[in-house]
Amino acid sequence: MKASFMLLLAPLVVSAAPALDSRQAAQSVDKLFKAKGKEYFGTCTDQGRLTSGKNAAIIEANFGQVTPENSMKWASINPSKGTYNWGQADYLVNWATQRNKTIRGHTFVWHSQLASWVNSISDRNTLTQAIQNHITTVMTRYKGKIHHYDVINEMFNEDGSLRSSVFSRVLGEDFVGIAFRAARAADPSAKLYINDYNLDSPNAAKVTRGMVDHVKKWLAAGIPIDGIGTQGHLQSGGGNGLAQAIKTLAASGVKEVAVTELDIQNSNTNDYVAVTRGCLEEPKCVGITVWGVRDPDSWRPQGNPLLFDSNFNPKANYNAIVQLLSQ
Ligand code: G3I
Repeated sequence: MKASFMLLLAPLVVSAAPALDSRQAAQSVDKLFKAKGKEYFGTCTDQGRLTSGKNAAIIEANFGQVTPENSMKWASINPSKGTYNWGQADYLVNWATQRNKTIRGHTFVWHSQLASWVNSISDRNTLTQAIQNHITTVMTRYKGKIHHYDVINEMFNEDGSLRSSVFSRVLGEDFVGIAFRAARAADPSAKLYINDYNLDSPNAAKVTRGMVDHVKKWLAAGIPIDGIGTQGHLQSGGGNGLAQAIKTLAASGVKEVAVTELDIQNSNTNDYVAVTRGCLEEPKCVGITVWGVRDPDSWRPQGNPLLFDSNFNPKANYNAIVQLLSQ
């Protein structure tokens, strides 16, 4: 009896919800960042988020760039050899293109969320072809629509050495050139990035012996790396370190750098302001992407790391960025 009564009431409860506002924050951080000469201030999303709550309205009004949070990962988009699931990635690309948002493709060569058929390859030629075919297929489909790509993701250990993965075990360092050259050939106008986490302090071995020394070497060898992405999954107090590290990464000789997955657990406004200022002050820093819209949808919701709260209201962190960019 009780359950059926609740079911009858459910439609009434839903229809009593307030209408969605088209704009949840008075100012667009994207618009303000562009006014300072930067390319974008963006966020990650995907079809599930874009079709729920106020995510689409907020992204449309306040952000200028989107990264697919999960839909373009190898296991999602190319789960078995020759099979591509385009649905969710197409949705994201179409949504963004129709609204004049730039897109960051994420990600091709990554040890995690990797299709099992790739993980079990054990010979050089087969793995080389798998990387080339995958990159060429995805980039050809979205040619001219996706402006930046995370070609390689998370390939370094904390001490700066190469992470063990199917890619490094079978191909050594050669997978770097294979992946970037395939990407350059597939869409010469796309900006090609190497992306990693824990690049949060200028003296960290992962920054110096890892990213910077390797990128210098690969650029000297003619590998077409355009940019370094620093993810920026920070804790409270981490903003200044990341801001300093941006300069070190930019000095490696790449054309550009970007903060690609920013979230800050237990952040006070100083942290978000420091990261935004760090990007503003480094001429090679083109943009910032926060890793999600509202706190409960973060991959690590503890410590409320994002810019909007559970009710889709802009937080003090968002307003502090607006204030900085309005000066
Ligand atoms: O879609 C399935 C769903 O069908 C299933 O019922 C459910 C059960 O667990 O899982 C769902 O998949 C989850 C997926 O997110 C979509 O929600 C996976 O389990 C979960 O592991 C996956 O987590 C993502 C994680 O990467 C692993 O790929 C996070 O959303 C995403 O925010 C996170 O993003 C990464 C960046 O790509 C790279 N840098 C680190 C960053 C944070 O981990």
